[in-house]
Amino acid sequence: MKKLYAVLGDPIGHSMSPFMLNDLFSFYNMDSVYLPFHVKGENLHDAVKGLKAVGVGGFNVTVPHKSNIIPFLDGIDELALNIGAVNTVVNENGQLIGYNTDGPGFLKGLNAILPNLTGQKVLLIGAGGAARAIYFTLAKENTQRLDIANRTIDRAIGLINDCPYSVDSKACSFEEAIELLGEYDLVIQTTLIGMSPKIYEQPIALNNLRNQSVFCDIIYNPLETQFLKDARQNGARIQNGIDMFVYQGALAFEKWTGIFPDVERMRDNVLKQLGGRTC
Ligand code: ATR
Repeated sequence: MKKLYAVLGDPIGHSMSPFMLNDLFSFYNMDSVYLPFHVKGENLHDAVKGLKAVGVGGFNVTVPHKSNIIPFLDGIDELALNIGAVNTVVNENGQLIGYNTDGPGFLKGLNAILPNLTGQKVLLIGAGGAARAIYFTLAKENTQRLDIANRTIDRAIGLINDCPYSVDSKACSFEEAIELLGEYDLVIQTTLIGMSPKIYEQPIALNNLRNQSVFCDIIYNPLETQFLKDARQNGARIQNGIDMFVYQGALAFEKWTGIFPDVERMRDNVLKQLGGRTC
């Protein structure tokens, strides 16, 4: 019998996950289907109960349900619990267990251009949900510094204080970040600034960056944000948000099936789907 996988969100029509995951199920000859479900917050508990009742293999959770879903699950792993957000649920012998593959997905994608974070100085721009997943994940690596610049500094301080993994960190304003930029080996842009349609915006000026440092943006539409354009023109190595998206999906697929999938195939599919609407 066909196995069901799903993604729950509100809205959900824009999600590229069904395209990416259904292709993998057919590529690996698995009799499974991955469906998007538009679920409003007030129906989330019923949706989870329904998926459990029909024996779902697993599902993804996206905005705005990543935190609210936690009380409706049977268990949650340590990293997801600390982050306070779940993006992947696995049916483990009838128990729905929550994981977070956003942070680990970012890290796995990053490792392709920066294999080792030991001793590196890192700046995160933004202190929202995506920043939280990345911060907690990188805090578990041996980074030397992991600072956060955010418009609202209190939010950055809150994130640092919430983190149970010990790492040298400070919160700073965008103005301070601009001045200190040359100190960082890696800078990660996690806000929505620069996302289509406001593609000419970016959070901080990048004149001060260190040559050959690595600049990442978690946005993938457009593929090269203004932030990445400026970073590249100032001599940095750059990475866009496709890798985080692809690797979070690859890690979810691995949790459901035991197979770590062909990420190049996934990336090609996502790029194909983005074709024509990258700005
Ligand atoms: P997500 O879950 O996608 O990370 P979020 O939790 O709403 O989204 O967080 C958005 C992040 O983008 C925050 O760091 C936010 O800064 P504040 O904490 O000060 O709100 C940042 N952000 C959004 N719009 C911004 C803007 N116009 N200028 C500066 N920062 C902005």
